[in-house]
Amino acid sequence: MHLISHSPAWRTLETHWREIADLRMRDLFEQDPERSRRFSLEQCGIYLDYSKNLVTEQTMSNLMALAKTADLTFWGDSLLRGDKVNNTEGRAVLHMALRNLGYRDYQVDGVDVMPAIRSVLSRMRAFSDDVRSGRWLGYTGQRITDVVSIGIGGSSLGPKMVCEALRPYQERTLRVHFVSNVDGAQLVQTLQWLDPATTLFVIASKTFTTQETITNADSARDWCLEALHNEAAIARHFVAVSTNTEAVAAFGIDPHNMFEFWEWVGGRYSLWSAIGLPIALAIGMDRFEELLAGAHDMDEHFVEAPPERNMPIILALLGIWYNNFGGSDTHAIIPYNQNLRHLPAYLQQVDMESNGKRVTRDGEPVDYQTGPVIWGQPGTDAQHSFFQLIHQGTRLVPTDFILPMVSHHPLDEHHDKLVANCLAQAQALMRGRTEAEARAELEAGNIPAERIEKLVPHRIFPGNRPSNMIVVDKLTPHVLGALIAMYEHKVFVQGVIWGVDSFDQWGVELGKQLAGHILSDFRQISCSPGVDSSTASLIRRYHMAMPD
Ligand code: F6P
Repeated sequence: MHLISHSPAWRTLETHWREIADLRMRDLFEQDPERSRRFSLEQCGIYLDYSKNLVTEQTMSNLMALAKTADLTFWGDSLLRGDKVNNTEGRAVLHMALRNLGYRDYQVDGVDVMPAIRSVLSRMRAFSDDVRSGRWLGYTGQRITDVVSIGIGGSSLGPKMVCEALRPYQERTLRVHFVSNVDGAQLVQTLQWLDPATTLFVIASKTFTTQETITNADSARDWCLEALHNEAAIARHFVAVSTNTEAVAAFGIDPHNMFEFWEWVGGRYSLWSAIGLPIALAIGMDRFEELLAGAHDMDEHFVEAPPERNMPIILALLGIWYNNFGGSDTHAIIPYNQNLRHLPAYLQQVDMESNGKRVTRDGEPVDYQTGPVIWGQPGTDAQHSFFQLIHQGTRLVPTDFILPMVSHHPLDEHHDKLVANCLAQAQALMRGRTEAEARAELEAGNIPAERIEKLVPHRIFPGNRPSNMIVVDKLTPHVLGALIAMYEHKVFVQGVIWGVDSFDQWGVELGKQLAGHILSDFRQISCSPGVDSSTASLIRRYHMAMPD
């Protein structure tokens, strides 16, 4: 395969970046009062205003040509057909089937996957209804008050993010907690306020072999047995979500208490499967299905809409514009919503584990940047920490602002202030403040001329800093589903253009293997031969720090 960077479409974009380098966004807005209408669209309850980007109609058309060169339509069709688009693992990628509330036919190796999906959904409904209504009782006959989901990566980040995002839909009678880190602090500090008789553990692991999850699950089991004194209690207090029935049974969980999913569900795309059980427990199965419906709507939009009016495609191409032609290395996600505070961390996995690759799907090293560093935190907190760099630093940081217009918690003027800040940040990034404006402002403040000259360089904002404004009315399950699916498809499109396998994650393996060797050194109080001097000295230091 030829690298996309050698294509005419790529070269056109390189030239085009140089051509538009002198354009000022504030001028573009002044020249074209229709700019915001021209560069915006509304779909599935999401309004995307991408007018504050360094783009013209020509830019967008050049970017669309790049998508065509990458054969985006072919790869989209291939995904839908259930082809093994995850070629390095030989797997189909069918998370869209998990939220397929429509007519589409999804098959893997000629087998319709929908009956199995529907059957697990109905088991999730029965179980979550039982727990939430108090029909499912703990071993001592008490009602479940706390659910602790133990999992890591894709088996935790999605459900954790969604549960927090939809907290306004949760009832106070059932609290949901997440434990992922093998640092015992997290498990201990979560369990210290809980009662084993009223706690239900959901052990979520696709493979059921992940070190962190199994270690936490073992300790949770000990905690439970220490209080309830009987192995029979495990059946009332532990359920599993996995693809690995044998390992679940070997752990001691009754396979009847296991919720299945399938190898064609990637970890970071799994919140729509039984991995979403903590979500169903937190907000109820009806709401969980609303989340699926929102994602399904976005799937249909992604599959059906022409590229020029296709939200995930537009977002993907804008990202590529700055990443590959504008020299930016990162992409900030700034939700102006406290309940979306885990969204940046969730998207870090979706994006960076998917597209943090250095060779194409054929194994050829790329000669261009692939996935950017994704980072962020909610506004307005972010304004008081790192926004300085985004406004006046030397780096270009494309930013997504995510803004629900209606608050679940109207409180005096809080929401007006939140929204005003969000709009102002995007406006300031776009407009900047010129030297003349900075000087005029200082002069109006009666500041001595000499001091003004010293301050002016610090008061200039270059502006021209790009952002997307992603607006929803209210953060409902439906709209959240659409928002997540929008980002999933954006990542897919970028992966297609970069020619990488967005669905494997070999990069997490080496560290895992080496941790295994080091752990065995700890157990034997030794250090394996051939270990580098830095690691060896750190291993010795750890031996010395070990309590006797
Ligand atoms: O860290 C790599 C990874 O494989 C992720 O892709 C996955 O989401 C996570 O580990 C958890 O894996 P499992 O669900 O098998 O425990």
